[in-house]
Amino acid sequence: MPGNYRIADRMSLLDASGIRKVFDLAAKLENPINLSIGQPDFDVPAPAKAEAIAAIERGFNKYTQTQGAADLREAVAAAARREFGWDDDRAYLITSGVSGALLLAFMVTINPGDEVILLDPYFVMYKHLVNLVGGVPVAVATYPDFSPDPARIASAVTDRTTMLVVNSPGNPTGRVYTVDELRAIADLADHHGLLVVSDEIYNSFCYDSPFASMASVCENTLLMRGFSKTYAMTGWRLGWCSGPVEVIEKMTMLQQYSFVCAPSMAQAGGVAAMSCDVSEHVDAYRKKRDMVFEALSGPFGLIKPGGAFYAFVPAPEGATGTEFVARAIDNNVLVIPGNVFSERDTHFRISYATSDEKLAEGLEILLGLAK
Ligand SMILES: Cc1ncc(COP(=O)(O)O)c(C=O)c1O
Repeated sequence: MPGNYRIADRMSLLDASGIRKVFDLAAKLENPINLSIGQPDFDVPAPAKAEAIAAIERGFNKYTQTQGAADLREAVAAAARREFGWDDDRAYLITSGVSGALLLAFMVTINPGDEVILLDPYFVMYKHLVNLVGGVPVAVATYPDFSPDPARIASAVTDRTTMLVVNSPGNPTGRVYTVDELRAIADLADHHGLLVVSDEIYNSFCYDSPFASMASVCENTLLMRGFSKTYAMTGWRLGWCSGPVEVIEKMTMLQQYSFVCAPSMAQAGGVAAMSCDVSEHVDAYRKKRDMVFEALSGPFGLIKPGGAFYAFVPAPEGATGTEFVARAIDNNVLVIPGNVFSERDTHFRISYATSDEKLAEGLEILLGLAK
């Protein structure tokens, strides 16, 4: 039925066709082995659940302060003091997930025509949100081993470049940047006066070396952390952001007129979550990473991912990522084609955030498709 409305032009800048095609194909499957899901298969820590429920029961159901409830901001600041040695004057904003932080940050810092460097492959949201606010995403390839090459990045910088987005450990590659790699990016950003947005939502999932933060080597960093992955709180919509005071102030102002605040009960649960130990889950995910690497390194030439819970696997010789994914789906395994995250269509993404049994089953089927 024709309605008396129109869709704003900016929506034509968003494109969800790649991922939609996969889900359309997958809809035919009765009981797929789903290696496509970007969320942990473990549950929220019990103390966080109990605290959120208690918060609801005691009536903590109203708006919180826009910048976040005082106790959560204090818990976040205390954690940052321990990690970075930051003083108490630091600005923090509690957000509705890292997604909320990204949208606010891009809205308040990107002007139409501003160029934003994304290291390709990149988390799918970056490109679309940059487009939405009128910015120009500039993809800098990190193939074949997903290392951030300073020379390649430097050659993409123009006089319109204002921002660089870093995501380590990364989605979809699982690549973890070393301190030296972060420093090289920081030097470059410093030289060109770029704001670095550092999406560190997978900081807890580092398997071979301690996590290194961009915020510890680069002053001009807008740091984003989340609760979705570390504490399996994807549906609770909670994250936080810290960085240049004026940016955080403007993001807070915009939050006041948009999200208003992060969910109150999630904030209460978040305080409790922060003192929970998730190392058992991280150990389990390290083992899953090892299973994936052992299975796929030889036949597919997979480079060992060091973090998050993804592997970005080259499609076999002669097939595009999309073609291989169609074959995998025909064989009941759901994975995502690389072109959803990249300008190239040469890989596919596995999420190993599933049971060992399902993962083993899925890997065996993928191995059968390797030729
Ligand atoms: C790299 C990255 N950033 C941000 C998000 C969104 O996280 P949140 O649930 O905190 O909005 C995701 C979720 O998959 C992600 O992979």
